[in-house]
Amino acid sequence: MNRREFIASCAAAASAAALPGCASRPRREGCLFRYTPSGGLRVRCDGLERPLRVWQVSDSHLNLRDSRDDEYKDFYARMGVEWNPKLTAREAFERILDDAREKRPDLLLVTGDLISFPTLKNVEFAVERLDACGVPWLYTAGNHDWHFEGDEGSDAEQRARWIEKRLLPLYKGEDPMAYAKTVGGVRFLMIDNSTYNVDERQLEFFRAETAKGGPCVLAMHIPLWHRGWGAYACGSPDWCTAADKNWQIERRQPWAERQDESTFEFRRAVDEADSLLAVLAGHYHRLEMVSDSGLVHATAPLAAVGEILKVTIG
Ligand SMILES: [Fe+2]
Repeated sequence: MNRREFIASCAAAASAAALPGCASRPRREGCLFRYTPSGGLRVRCDGLERPLRVWQVSDSHLNLRDSRDDEYKDFYARMGVEWNPKLTAREAFERILDDAREKRPDLLLVTGDLISFPTLKNVEFAVERLDACGVPWLYTAGNHDWHFEGDEGSDAEQRARWIEKRLLPLYKGEDPMAYAKTVGGVRFLMIDNSTYNVDERQLEFFRAETAKGGPCVLAMHIPLWHRGWGAYACGSPDWCTAADKNWQIERRQPWAERQDESTFEFRRAVDEADSLLAVLAGHYHRLEMVSDSGLVHATAPLAAVGEILKVTIG
């Protein structure tokens, strides 16, 4: 599918990927979402006071550091480069926030890899600029936010360590693993799946939140698996030790043999959650969009080069 030309309409169910173990059912009727390059993603939601404008900012990959983190120089050397030599990640981030300050979306949805490594300078800069922008913002982590390449321990251990040591200001007191915030009548469920796993507690959180009714949007870093999407997805049957091609480059432990069972349960729970309007992720650094029975799953383009996904709900 040519993403730039992709326009989803009433026939959303027709493009649904059949998921193993997931109910494939036409639970959603009517024209539920559409995408155009000029208008962004429009998701239908009745009953809101006014349309909600969300800017999804994913994978900014800020790469700032100073002498306070000199001891980690070796850990951030590889990811310290720019994605575009003509526009630094910092400049791209500032450009996005300047635009937001002027156009005043209702929410900045930051879906991970905001930074390429957890230096003090990166976190301080990101929080200061996001706060100064004056637009409400929500954050969930990506796999690079908490990763110093070459550091010890499993991904889960590194995530816990660096969230505690560095990333907490990004959560403003919320639970880094799972929290919900209501903006303009829509509840945003922020779930950290940056290790490719969702644990039992996050699964229960998701079930409880979506069972409350009312429109919800699920925001995570790693997209949920669809047939043909390969190993780099959450709930992927293709994810396994042998499929991990980057563990040596990224200097981390290789993937396990399989994602946790709770991750596959979560994948099924998403498919069954009638109150979900959309699933918004990042990680792929490109715009992808697919529909499961009318529920849109999207990945945002690369904010490190100044691209975002604009989403209008209502
Ligand atoms: Fe990324």
